[in-house]
Formats: sequence, C-alpha cells, structure tokens
Amino acid sequence: MAKKRTLVGLDIGTTKVCTVVGEVDEDGDVHVVGVGSAPSRGMRKGVVVDLDSTTRAIEEAVDRAERMAGVKIQSVYVAVSGEHIGSANSRGVVAVSRGDREIGEGDVNRCIEAARIAALPSQEREIVHLLPRNFIVDGQDGVRNPVGMYGNRLEVETHIVTGTSTVLANLLKCVQRANLEVEELVLEPLASGEAVLTPADRELGVVLADIGGGTTSLGIYLGGGLCYTAILPVGGHHVTSDIAVGLRTPMAEAEKLKLRHGAAMASVAAEGELIEVVNIGDRQPRILPRRILCEIIEPRAREIMDLIRNQLRLVRAQFRVGSSSPVMAAGVVLTGGTALLPGLDELAAGHLEMPARVGQPDHVSGVVDAIGSPIYSTAVGLVLHGARAHTKSRVARASNGVGMFGRLRIWLGDLFGGG
Ligand SMILES: Nc1ncnc2c1ncn2[C@@H]1O[C@H](COP(=O)(O)OP(=O)(O)OP(=O)(O)O)[C@@H](O)[C@H]1O
Ligand SMILES: [Mg+2]
Repeated sequence: MAKKRTLVGLDIGTTKVCTVVGEVDEDGDVHVVGVGSAPSRGMRKGVVVDLDSTTRAIEEAVDRAERMAGVKIQSVYVAVSGEHIGSANSRGVVAVSRGDREIGEGDVNRCIEAARIAALPSQEREIVHLLPRNFIVDGQDGVRNPVGMYGNRLEVETHIVTGTSTVLANLLKCVQRANLEVEELVLEPLASGEAVLTPADRELGVVLADIGGGTTSLGIYLGGGLCYTAILPVGGHHVTSDIAVGLRTPMAEAEKLKLRHGAAMASVAAEGELIEVVNIGDRQPRILPRRILCEIIEPRAREIMDLIRNQLRLVRAQFRVGSSSPVMAAGVVLTGGTALLPGLDELAAGHLEMPARVGQPDHVSGVVDAIGSPIYSTAVGLVLHGARAHTKSRVARASNGVGMFGRLRIWLGDLFGGG
C-alpha cells in the first residue's frame, strides 16, 4: 500500500481558529480528512493579544479536527499574519565552484545564503520566508532550477518576508502551549494562494487578496513567483462595526445582518427589499430598506479596494510595470470570509481595473464540502504548502525558509526556556 503522511494546517485568524487535516500521498496529492474550527477571541488584526484565549481556541479547533479525522495531531503548519510583516526583494551572486562549471546544489545554497546576508534583518526581526523567484546563469534570467546547468556566475532574485520576533514568538508560544509542534510558519497570503491560485495565475501575474475579519493580506505574483507581500489592518470586522454604528444595532446583530443581507455595492439591493433591524436597548425592531445596509457597507468595501490599489501602485513602481501592462493579467483573486460579500468581485474589478474573481479552496479531495468556502483557504493552503515542501527537490526545500525558522525556534528556547 502506498505510504501516506498526515499534514495539518493551523490558521489562527482574527475571527476563528481553524485546523485542517490532510493525508498526502507519494505524488503530493492531498485528501482532506478532518476540519475543526473555534471562535478566536485572543487575536487583533492578525496578531495574538491574549495568550490564554488563543491557546484555548487552538485546543478546541484541534480537538474537533482530531475527532473528525480520527487521528492525534502532533505537529502543525501555522499561518502568520499581521501588520508587523514586512517584505523585500534581495539578490545574491556567487561564482560557480566546480572546475567543469556544472552548477551544484551547494552553489545554489551559497547563492541563496548571499541573498539572505544582503537582506539581513535587524535584531528585532526574523526571516519567515526566503523565496527564490528567479535564477540568472551568466546573465540569462528566467532559470527555474539551475542545478546541472553549466555557468560561471550564478545569481538569484529572492523575495524575503520578515516579521517582528516577539510577535512571532507570541504566536509560537500559544501553539506550544496547546502541546503542538510547529513544522513551519507560513505567511497567510502564501498559504491561501496555494489553495486558490493555479500555476497559470502565477505565470500570468496575479494579486491574491485574503480579506478576513481583521486583516487584508496581499500576495502579488509576477512571472510565476511571489514578489510582493503586505498585510493591511482592515477587514470584515470593520464592515460589521460600521453597520453597528450606522444602524445603531448591537455588533452581533450587525454581523447577522451583514451575513444575511449584506452586499458590497448598494446597487445590488433591489428597490423595495426590506430588512428587520434590532435596536439597541429597545425591543421593537425597525423595518428598513436593504439598500441602506448596503450603502453603509459600500464605502468600507471601496476603502479596502483603495488600500489594495495603493499597494499595486507601489508594486508597479518597484517592478516598473505600467498600469495597462498585462503582467497582472490574471487579475485579482479575492478570498477569506469577506470575499463572500455579494458584489465584492464586481467592485474590485471596477476599482482595480483588472479581472476579479472569488477563490475558494481547490486542488484537494476528501471532505471538500466541509472546506468549500473562502474562509478555509488559508488552512487548506497550509496543508498544500506542507505537501509541496515534502515532495519537491532538496534544492528547493533548502530554500523554503525552514532553516530560518529553526533559528527562531532556538531563539524562543532561549527566551522561554523551551516553551
Ligand atoms: N457570507 C458572508 N458575507 C460577508 N462576510 C462574511 C460572510 N461570511 C463570513 N464573513 C466575514 O468574514 C470575516 C471572517 O473571515 P475569515 O474567517 O477569513 O477571517 P480570519 O481568518 O479569522 O481573520 P484574519 O485573516 O483577518 O485574521 C468576518 O468578518 C465575517 O463577518
Ligand atoms: Mg485569515
């Protein structure tokens, strides 16, 4: 019988903690066998603000997933988010060491190390990912895997994602306190991208926007590789609070109204559609046109799109890409719970002037009904990321950030005495 590995994704989001258990076969195909969620109360804008509540939510979500999958979870891939995340692009250059000029794994690793040293973050920051985007052999770029090729000079362009050490340590501490080992930290939009994007999207150029409860995380791919990441501190929670203030209704009621009747564009609401709104401190509910609710949501949805558009400007300037250039030809893929707002894709397409679609988890089999919502993109993507790390070549594995995370683990050991 073919050997299978069990890999687990743990997404500690601002609104929910979610665990997805996948069985991965030798070809790297993922079969989801368990899912567990629990409300998250100890997170703000993607970072831990309450260790105890977050630890409890992790335990609950893991327990539920264990029951469904019938397995004991020991180690997890954990998603990272929050405004503290920074990213930069760095270049490494080395001379090929072998006499016959055939490039070996050692040359590639030295080259990536050179890029890492060039972008060495300050004492307070840790590298979360060091992702090679492009290898250049003797001036020829676009090389995906240079091992085995002949050349004198090897260069690499990398995308480096860093985070504040203490913020990452707090996240790891919660996971460790829930008696779980951390396989790897994975940036939220990178994980979500694994679940909702296709290789063609990445090749054509695509903007992945995971709009959750407290954050909007962006991952921008050009020419196949991730070249820009940013986490913006705004999400569905802001929409709910606008509704609560605008309609003078409790937050819980505002959330219900948003899920049942909300839309990102007021024009989605038909004339004469009515909704019932509970008043604060008053028993008698009001009847209002649905359009009023949508008119409250639309400016916030537009604000989120404005923030994304500003980031796109930065990317275009950095990579000298014209706004009419087709390099982001696959457009924007929206995921995360807020992507479920009807009309958000249409609003995004108009505002960002590019094609837009909503992406939900794909590329897996198993209990797909249980994970078939954009809410699960990150957790499913973590399992896919893990599966890819297990099946890809040793060269690629050496450069996927595991080494750097190892250092953070040692650092954590120093700080917390091992847990
Ligand atoms: N059907 C829906 N329509 C509109 N919004 C929705 C819908 N379902 C969920 N949401 C919103 O999605 C948000 C939660 O999304 P998600 O689960 O992706 O967030 P999270 O991962 O917990 O948070 P973050 O990624 O920001 O840390 C909430 O604000 C919720 O109100
Ligand atoms: Mg999320």
